[in-house]
Amino acid sequence: MARRSCHGGHWGRPVNGLPDLRGKVAVVTGGASGIGKGIATQLVAEGMRVIVADIERDALDKTAGEIGAIGVPVDVSDADSVGALARAAQELYGTVHVVCNNAGIGPMAAIKDLTMDDWHWILGVNLYGVIHGVHAFLPILSANPDGGWIVNTASMAGLAAPPRLGSYAVAKYGVVALTEVLAAELAAEGSRVGVSVLCPGTVRTNIGTSSRNRPADLPDRGLQDVDIQLEDNPEHRWIGPDDAGAVVVRAIKRGYLYALTHPDWYPRVQERHQAIADAFRQQAADDAAADAGAAAAQP
Ligand code: NAI
Repeated sequence: MARRSCHGGHWGRPVNGLPDLRGKVAVVTGGASGIGKGIATQLVAEGMRVIVADIERDALDKTAGEIGAIGVPVDVSDADSVGALARAAQELYGTVHVVCNNAGIGPMAAIKDLTMDDWHWILGVNLYGVIHGVHAFLPILSANPDGGWIVNTASMAGLAAPPRLGSYAVAKYGVVALTEVLAAELAAEGSRVGVSVLCPGTVRTNIGTSSRNRPADLPDRGLQDVDIQLEDNPEHRWIGPDDAGAVVVRAIKRGYLYALTHPDWYPRVQERHQAIADAFRQQAADDAAADAGAAAAQP
């Protein structure tokens, strides 16, 4: 197959995606529940052979049976476990075309209340989970003559961070950065592999009970589960996991770098961009004033 030569996409410029997913192989982490299940369901509907991978065994078996996927246990915070997942996928199907590094947790706390156990847990799953997935699967995808696609799940909190989600946002900004740089590097080498970062707004899932998966060896707890579905906040616009899955399918087929579920939330991101632009302008004005002052002080 020809190299996807117009893959040029730094900062979301158009690239060729994987338009035909039929018969291809996908792995979705965190696939037992919520957005991962929604993505896996949509990929099965596209005719893909799908492996769902998750730390929750019962939910994994149930979801795999329900949607017609194969379930493989994984702890994404453990590099060896993700490596074993990649080997299992190759043993099952010989290759992999699409990897969705989606497993994640969403408990909340102010930064001043976070323990080191909290930091290790949230960065271990939400940031290292994605790093491990890229590390284990990128060589497999790169060797695939059909090309491949990686989808990393970040969040709107990876584009503009709200209070109480500090540790979460540190991880999600990292996922956005990882994906942007990877997109640029793959484009520069003319790779057949592409990458998207999924930045969802509010999706109805089980993320409000994330602590069900907190490891026993990280007990010192400042992070608390908060089910924001119970908050009467008119700023939330709730969508279903299958809607998020459909956004992912479109991003893979069309080659979008940024996969967005809530385009109406752009003002939140624009506010941050505006603050950064204002800071640059202010610094330039301060420098110019200092230069003018120095010139005027010359004898
Ligand atoms: P969820 O709780 O319904 O699903 C997350 C899945 O990840 C669960 O099946 C869970 O067992 C699994 N998981 C947790 N720790 C794991 C580990 N160490 N190894 C393997 N699997 C593990 O939550 P949801 O909402 O579907 O979350 C999926 C992703 O979407 C996360 O990365 C989350 O940060 C992100 N997200 C969710 C939003 C929402 O409104 N629900 C908004 C923005 C991003």
